[in-house]
Amino acid sequence: MGVLTARKELKFDTPVFFQDLAIAAAALGAQLFLFSPDDVELSDGSIRGFIPDPITLTYQEDTFTNPNLILDRYLPYRKSFDELQKYQEIRQNPAFRIVNSCLPDKWNVYQILKAKPTVVKNLPTTRLYSSKTLRQMIKRYETVYMKPLHETGGRGIIKITHKRKGYSLYARDLHRVQSYSRVTSLEELLARIQKITLGHAYLVQQGLDLSLVENRVTDMRLLLQKTENGEWSVTGYGMRVGAKNSPTSNLHGGGIGKPVQLLYSRFGKKRSKRIRQRFLKLAYRVGRTIEKHCGQMVEMGLDIGIDTRGKVWLIEVNGMPGRQIFKQMDRMNLYRKAVSSPLRYILGLLSIKSSEKKAQT
Ligand SMILES: Nc1ncnc2c1ncn2[C@@H]1O[C@H](COP(=O)(O)OP(=O)(O)OP(=O)(O)O)[C@@H](O)[C@H]1O
Ligand SMILES: [Mg+2]
Repeated sequence: MGVLTARKELKFDTPVFFQDLAIAAAALGAQLFLFSPDDVELSDGSIRGFIPDPITLTYQEDTFTNPNLILDRYLPYRKSFDELQKYQEIRQNPAFRIVNSCLPDKWNVYQILKAKPTVVKNLPTTRLYSSKTLRQMIKRYETVYMKPLHETGGRGIIKITHKRKGYSLYARDLHRVQSYSRVTSLEELLARIQKITLGHAYLVQQGLDLSLVENRVTDMRLLLQKTENGEWSVTGYGMRVGAKNSPTSNLHGGGIGKPVQLLYSRFGKKRSKRIRQRFLKLAYRVGRTIEKHCGQMVEMGLDIGIDTRGKVWLIEVNGMPGRQIFKQMDRMNLYRKAVSSPLRYILGLLSIKSSEKKAQT
């Protein structure tokens, strides 16, 4: 099976994940190769693939035609126009059987989920940014978050808090460098935000109080994956405790992974169990809803907020999730399961296909 990703020479996006994927593939007896859009010859469907060695992480180059299935792990951020165009052509070409897909931008994902009555109650109010919507939102909520539609990893996020005299702003630029400033009036705030956001589409979102740990944004990362039988299953979840005074909990922004027992100390065991039931129910609903709109998915990472009053919120859905949270919690068995899951799902799909073929003959 092929894995579609991005590379520069022999430097692939997420190399550690691919090495672990190669180890899992070897254990399952599956052949795995990596390739980027540039490696595809659209005229005859041939692919220049790179077979990762699970031990040395060196790559052996070979040419492939008609891989059984392709897992899409291509992250279309900060890529050249030509490469993105080629990526779209590959995805639209029926000769390639591709599973998983990068989800649409944050605003489109919100629209898809908002249309589902059982999910909308767990979504923070979200608007497309304009000076007018920001003005309305900051009047209504003490804190609002602004996020660029086409970024990840906490890049470009701004947290605005209404203070007694003016507003405070925590902003991350597109290189994740953080800054703090204050403005004294609404007009000054609107002008400042207009300058920061220039040329980028942004969301304005109701800020949630996620300070389950004092002065630290604390939320949950949950991994939803397909089993070999093709059903959604929650592989695991863990809490992320953000760096002190950071507007986000992201692991690459200084956050650390903690077991979910953190909830017990805050809400007690009984209440925590009820919260757990609620976020699990929400996760399955989100999985089904997203898949209905975005095609066959293999996995999703959900950022779930549990506010200080115990209410469950869906902050974000990631179509190509990381698994670092399990490593951080030292849950290596869970990590390995999370890595091998997509392979087992794909092998499950292939065995259904081959038994269907046998039945036809
Ligand atoms: N409305 C909100 N209220 C409170 N905290 C929030 C809100 N939105 C985001 N955050 C915090 O910021 C983090 C990053 O937000 P989000 O996941 O939407 O952006 P991202 O840049 O796509 O992140 P990543 O790609 O790392 O998952 C969240 O995990 C959460 O800790
Ligand atoms: Mg996120």
